[in-house]
Amino acid sequence: MSQENKLKGLIDLRVQAKQGGGEKRVASQHAKGKLTARERIELLLDEGSFEEFDMFVTHGSHDFGLEKESYLGDGVVTGYGTIDGRLVYLYSQDFTVFGGSLSEAFARKICKVMDQAMKVGAPVIGLNDSGGARIQEGVKSLAGYAEIFQRNIMASGVIPQISAIFGPCAGGAVYSPALTDFIMMSRENSYMFVTGPKVVKTVTNEVVTDAELGGAMVHASKSGVTHFVAESEQEGIQLIRKLLSFLPSNNLEEPPLVACIDPVDRLEDALNEIIPDNPNKPYDVKDVIHAIVDNNEFMEVHRHFAANLVVGFARFNGVAVGIVANQPKYLAGVLDINASRKGARFVRFCDCFNIPIVTLVDVPGFLPGTAQEYGGIIIHGAKFLFAYGEATVPKVTVTLRKSYGGAHDVMSCKQLRGDINYAWPSAEIAVMGASGATEVLHGRQLKGIENPEERAAVVKEKENEYTEKFANPYVAAQHGFIDDVIEPRNTRFRVIRALQALATKKDTNPPKKHSNIPL
Ligand code: HXC
Repeated sequence: MSQENKLKGLIDLRVQAKQGGGEKRVASQHAKGKLTARERIELLLDEGSFEEFDMFVTHGSHDFGLEKESYLGDGVVTGYGTIDGRLVYLYSQDFTVFGGSLSEAFARKICKVMDQAMKVGAPVIGLNDSGGARIQEGVKSLAGYAEIFQRNIMASGVIPQISAIFGPCAGGAVYSPALTDFIMMSRENSYMFVTGPKVVKTVTNEVVTDAELGGAMVHASKSGVTHFVAESEQEGIQLIRKLLSFLPSNNLEEPPLVACIDPVDRLEDALNEIIPDNPNKPYDVKDVIHAIVDNNEFMEVHRHFAANLVVGFARFNGVAVGIVANQPKYLAGVLDINASRKGARFVRFCDCFNIPIVTLVDVPGFLPGTAQEYGGIIIHGAKFLFAYGEATVPKVTVTLRKSYGGAHDVMSCKQLRGDINYAWPSAEIAVMGASGATEVLHGRQLKGIENPEERAAVVKEKENEYTEKFANPYVAAQHGFIDDVIEPRNTRFRVIRALQALATKKDTNPPKKHSNIPL
């Protein structure tokens, strides 16, 4: 064969591989409002940066007629490219080939990019759209999944791993995304569940749809499985690009430093008045976050889950940070099981990847009640506490208002290795709130007063006495638990200074195999 024909042969094969499962199936994918595996890659990566691996891989299966049906690439497009000029590895499941189902060869392709990503220290992004294990391959595809899981586990805390779900993700297949750092689901067309509606009906008699069982909003608001919901695949892909801009490529690097044009000493007068005079009145902590970070830009993570705690990424003078803040607007900012899980996971992520943590505190305590106790708030709260105490990244804390009881300790207090802890003059740092304290301290005296009006007057007086004495930042400041009481409008500047002072921080944990965080 002439060289020219050899070249033509290559070009033909490439064209064939790029057709995936063929025109009809591509049209059906588009008709569902979905992009193809390759279209997604094109949107995700910098233009022209994609280098594909294993385009000519096919399955080696001979059962159920598969020997007569095979497609170049075998249903997953893999390789590397750049996002904002930074190297990433990726795989994109092609639903048009056997429903994106995972064969042995398919799994090997994914493992190859994961192995290379680990060698060079680059993030891995997985775009999922799959009917799960390739049924015709049986146990070989189970082994393939497990090979991927093992790599997810080894890569955890070494390179960022991000999963997008753009179609079905069911059965054991859910566990690879679940092992990664972030999950993003498109609002329409995507779902995740361990057992589908049919099995659910058989076992529990419950009748549910795919969306009710495992749609994006279910996982965003109820289970907390997904961190992000995108209105469209396009939006989801932009979201992944943005998320990566806050992250280092691996655990030995710092997140990229971005040029900052927002003045570091910008005063925000509105913050001096943001705390209502009535301590039981809420305000939106996101207003505080937006006011103090660079260009008012905050990328919220887990927005729909446990809204009483806000977490996400922002920058101070171009330095990426993780922000953790109690949200007085929801459940008064109380810590409950879900908020504790959410906070712990986020703090640990930041610590893995050298991202300083800025904590804004306004917490009345833990949520009381049997539902919380039976659900194990003790363990989940401990998880959050553990995450803060174990974290060695710079930790800057600003107490805006309430900081009571055990929740005070959890929220990056000094003794959990909080590095620089500030408080606003409105801060109330104490063991408990005035009404609870009055009841405990003066219960016997109050019981002896029969007249309700007289009783109320005594309660008020005792509460005022307690508030006067303890509901302020100065008792904690006297002990050095708070490094300074700062003017709210100056918070941005003080946080930036604190982060600068901590930039070279070195802290370690004792050598061990791994910690035993309460799970
Ligand atoms: C082989 C599959 C497949 C699979 C879909 N296809 N899933 N082929 N193995 N798992 C093929 C279909 O035969 C069809 O081929 C094409 O993909 C598109 O599928 P449709 O059913 O036409 O598409 P749609 O109506 O959109 O439904 C999508 C679906 C459904 C909901 C994913 O296909 C489905 O229920 N698939 C089976 C899911 C499943 O039970 N998977 C195994 C789970 S167990 P043609 O040729 O017609 O285009 C598992 C264990 C993993 O995954 C354990 C890991 C530890």
